[in-house]
Amino acid sequence: MKYNVQSLKHILLKMEEDKVNNRPIGIFDSGVGGVTVLKELQKLLPNEDYIYIGDTASFPYGSKSKKTIIELCKKRIENLIEKEVKVIVIACGTATSQALEEMKRIFNMPIIGIIEPTVEYLNEKKYKNIGVIATTGTIRSNGWEENIKKVIPDAKVQNKACPLLAPMAEEGWTDNEIAKLAIHEYIKDIKNIDALILGCTHYPLFKKIIEKELTKSVDIINTGEMVAKELKEYIIKNKLKNENIKEGTTQIFLTDLECNFLNVAKSLMQKDNLNIQKIN
Ligand code: DGL
Repeated sequence: MKYNVQSLKHILLKMEEDKVNNRPIGIFDSGVGGVTVLKELQKLLPNEDYIYIGDTASFPYGSKSKKTIIELCKKRIENLIEKEVKVIVIACGTATSQALEEMKRIFNMPIIGIIEPTVEYLNEKKYKNIGVIATTGTIRSNGWEENIKKVIPDAKVQNKACPLLAPMAEEGWTDNEIAKLAIHEYIKDIKNIDALILGCTHYPLFKKIIEKELTKSVDIINTGEMVAKELKEYIIKNKLKNENIKEGTTQIFLTDLECNFLNVAKSLMQKDNLNIQKIN
């Protein structure tokens, strides 16, 4: 076969594209919460490879200042860029609400957070009365309410910070009496809502208990599902689909191995073996 300059250029370009396609998806959170997002991504995009960072040395993000969250996010995104990911998912409400805009300004990289895809869904469903439970930092930033009102100006938003829940989830205390009491205490004053946003990615771990606290008509929103739909669309639209024909791989990196991550992640992912390594 003969190549002219034009077709060679085309082939090189195609090779370049292929390389990007087959790169992994990067995802991070302060700990195990982001695994609830990873799970949804794996359901919708099973042939993709994933690199997950749990910033366990800095857990919890929820009680830290915006300045600290921005610094931590920068480091985690640099880690993921070094690992040559094609797109980054900030699988953390605290980091999305306080650092996503800044990260998009700093890095020339597609970065997706958990708020925008969820707000799109609320709008599609025409929900007006919305509850948000999240970490102290997320509620303090008012990130959910501001973003909801940009799209649904007449929305009524009830916010509640639940600082104990993420540490309890890391501990694996998501279905015991203490978890029931904590959930009751945190959501008892949220009334007359169409939807409750689990605004911290650790909270889907409490879904069973939360369901029992609310009337059946309330849509309990796992942001991971919204992110997965958005990412799938993005990947298809930008021709970034991995051409793997078998199930993709998942590598997990933690900034501190001295934690309960492995136990919670194993039961969440229903896997006995997880490939976990240390990262700085
Ligand atoms: N999972 C995170 C979030 O979505 C962080 C929880 C924490 O570290 O406090 O907000």
